[in-house]
Amino acid sequence: MFSENDHAAMQRALALAAQGMYLTTPNPRVGCVLIKGGQIIGEGYTQPAGQDHAEIQALKDAAARGVDVSGATAYVTLEPCSHFGRTPPCADALVRSGVARVVAAMEDPNPAVSGRGLQRLRDAGIDVRCGLLEKEARDLNIGFVSRMTRGLPWVRVKVAASLDGGTALHDGTSQWITGQAARDDGHAWRARACAILTGIGTVRDDDPQLTVRAVSTPRQPQRVLVDSRLEVPLDARMLARDSGDFAKPVLVFCAIDAPERRAALEARGAEVIVLPNARGKVELRQMIEELGRRGINELHVEAGFKLNGSLIREGCADELLVYLAPRLLGDAQGMFHLPPLSSLRDAPAFRWHDVRQIGDDLRLIARRQQADPA
Ligand SMILES: NC(=O)c1ccc[n+]([C@@H]2O[C@H](COP(=O)([O-])OP(=O)(O)OC[C@H]3O[C@@H](n4cnc5c(N)ncnc54)[C@H](OP(=O)(O)O)[C@@H]3O)[C@@H](O)[C@H]2O)c1
Repeated sequence: MFSENDHAAMQRALALAAQGMYLTTPNPRVGCVLIKGGQIIGEGYTQPAGQDHAEIQALKDAAARGVDVSGATAYVTLEPCSHFGRTPPCADALVRSGVARVVAAMEDPNPAVSGRGLQRLRDAGIDVRCGLLEKEARDLNIGFVSRMTRGLPWVRVKVAASLDGGTALHDGTSQWITGQAARDDGHAWRARACAILTGIGTVRDDDPQLTVRAVSTPRQPQRVLVDSRLEVPLDARMLARDSGDFAKPVLVFCAIDAPERRAALEARGAEVIVLPNARGKVELRQMIEELGRRGINELHVEAGFKLNGSLIREGCADELLVYLAPRLLGDAQGMFHLPPLSSLRDAPAFRWHDVRQIGDDLRLIARRQQADPA
């Protein structure tokens, strides 16, 4: 159904979509290529929310080149929208442009609108195909797909560990287990996330800023803290507003309502959300749901073994992003604090998604077996 030229054009559209990696949230990253007579006559990718979608950028690009789009094929990595959101429907713009054929990589994952954009194009007599390089397209927007289909962000837990699984010495020292290249790579994963989450133990030991520094990004992810008793020091670096451009307040999830502490944190610009579980800790599942409601597509976790373990236990971790350094820490804190198992059948199961070397370290990506919407 799809030719080699179709594949090449969609690959280009996916590469364009990836240029919006740090840009488009909470919208998906989308690329569009217009081809006529075997030539690219326009291309574009989705801009920050409220600005042009990929199709509009590509049509504007073609207009700037002075090319007539009628009869062209449009390759888009996601079904063109058919509804008025913050911008007018892209399907209508494609119809008006006179394109003869539209190839989409995937349908819109939002069940409320899925298929309607493609139908609008078909109704206008356009030859519409869908499903080219769909897996790649879904992967590029794994968080958006997750939020649209499950109402939950895609939760990626990042861990830097020694070959024997150590993530910190018993005195809390963990900087640095992995090398510079791995740490820089970790910042690229931070940058693509809508939010970065940590626990009070990590704030106490490391006082992280939780900002993106090693890669250039037009926006900083929102910062989120799990802190049952609101013990975060008011001078914690993650509460600082001067370490980047933060449009959104730091979210602090806690298990007690302590009006004075809450007021002090709010005065620092944080938002406090009380979500207790039966053990007096934060109810993690509800926290993840709340982040989904707030438009978080990809949640990047950089916490210690306690919070990491709880996220695994509660079935909240979709993906593990593990950097393994070729050194041994011996008797140290592990990656996940989990209770002993009585049967191997009960072991939380993942499958390998990607394995590669980054500098002197290994990067392993594993996904929870039931989670993968890609
Ligand atoms: N190598 C790495 O990749 C890496 C990354 C980050 C941190 N670290 C290291 O990890 C160490 C800190 O580990 P940690 O385990 O103490 O810190 P953590 O996992 O960041 O935070 C744990 C704390 O979160 C709170 N919490 C609230 N609700 C919870 C829930 N439902 N489940 C679990 N925890 C909940 C608990 O505090 P309450 O008891 O107050 O409820 C708990 O003590 C530091 O030494 C740091 O250097 C290593």
